[in-house]
Amino acid sequence: MEIPAIEGGKPVREKFKEYYPTFTEREKSLVLDALSSGRLVYSSGSYVKRFEEEFARYVGVRHAVATINGTAALHTAVASLGIGPGDEVITTPFSFVATATAILHHNAIPVFGDIELESLNLDPETIVDKITSRTKAILVVHLAGYPAEMDEILKIAREHGLYVIEDCAQAIGSEYRGRKVGGIGDVGAFSFYQTKNMTTGEGGMVTTNRDDVYAYARMFVDQGQEAKYYHSILGWNYRMTELQGALGLGQLERVDQLNENRARIAKVYLDELQGLDGDLVLLPKVRPYVKHTWHIFQVLLNLEKLRVDRDRVLEALRAENVLALVAYPRVIYENPLFQRMIGYGKGCPWKCPFYGGSVSYRKGLAPKAEMAARSVITLPTLAGMDEEDAIDTAKALKKVLLYYKR
Ligand SMILES: Cc1ncc(COP(=O)(O)O)c(C=O)c1O
Repeated sequence: MEIPAIEGGKPVREKFKEYYPTFTEREKSLVLDALSSGRLVYSSGSYVKRFEEEFARYVGVRHAVATINGTAALHTAVASLGIGPGDEVITTPFSFVATATAILHHNAIPVFGDIELESLNLDPETIVDKITSRTKAILVVHLAGYPAEMDEILKIAREHGLYVIEDCAQAIGSEYRGRKVGGIGDVGAFSFYQTKNMTTGEGGMVTTNRDDVYAYARMFVDQGQEAKYYHSILGWNYRMTELQGALGLGQLERVDQLNENRARIAKVYLDELQGLDGDLVLLPKVRPYVKHTWHIFQVLLNLEKLRVDRDRVLEALRAENVLALVAYPRVIYENPLFQRMIGYGKGCPWKCPFYGGSVSYRKGLAPKAEMAARSVITLPTLAGMDEEDAIDTAKALKKVLLYYKR
């Protein structure tokens, strides 16, 4: 048996490598053109407008509104559906925190269901029990690029008169039964953060087929302006810059190619780790009717079969000089923000007089999500990685797990 580097063996890689996106000459010339024009903002430029149009076409929706980041896009999505003080939104506890803080940002209350282990997405069967007279929406996340079970979620939403918001931050190009995510629910929100499947550095996009949501979102991201210096609603300055818009336009032209590269890396992980599946690990099982875009590759460790905990496995992988992460080390409600329930201060929004309900963030609320947070190892599929990088990463994980097997 091979000895892991952390136990005195030889590391899989001599040196640790970092991965960053690289940009084409076309992308650089678009950004340079925006810069040279001196028109750096939405009102004077044309790049963000073009990026919005092209993005809407790509997702297959009528409208898209660009934002400064994905969190702003999610906040805009929540606000544009009229969700606010006293309202509850049911969501997944196993996601990046912004999924839930975007609900808090508009004074509404996140209520957590649990996840299915197959996809690590919100389990539709855990939604209905959480619905109250205050519930306004279901906020699903297509985690890691794996589309959530939209048919069942839409059915529940229809039966109970709820909106559906899609957090597509990790799922640009993902499809559910042939439809791109972001156009299936009432409104979608995307992120173009540096590590995302396509990037504008920071950046985001709201997508919708609804004219009313679009009209609100357009004002919301622009200081609530209905016309020049005429502010109809409470808005923010969430406008994307032209430099971001120019880069986004270029990245969008090759997003399918970028996604293919991620899929190639995921295939290496699947092939290399197959032998451990169902024993030492649980690998993602892609349903035949979805297109997964592999923003990350999530592996659940079977801790009962290992002599060490997940954090030791992570340390051991670092010692092998390969990149591995944990997304996410705790479920959202385990964070102090939710345990202390301090948002805007003075108890708001949880103690807001308009909120007559009581929400619980107690331990054990979502046992599967808590289990996933304790046992997940996240393998990267980053732009800048090649198949050799993926082979070494998978080899390192295999070596470490076989050594620590009980
Ligand atoms: C699932 C999810 N939701 C929301 C966000 C927020 O996006 P951003 O970082 O662009 O604000 C992210 C990004 O990290 C995410 O992964």
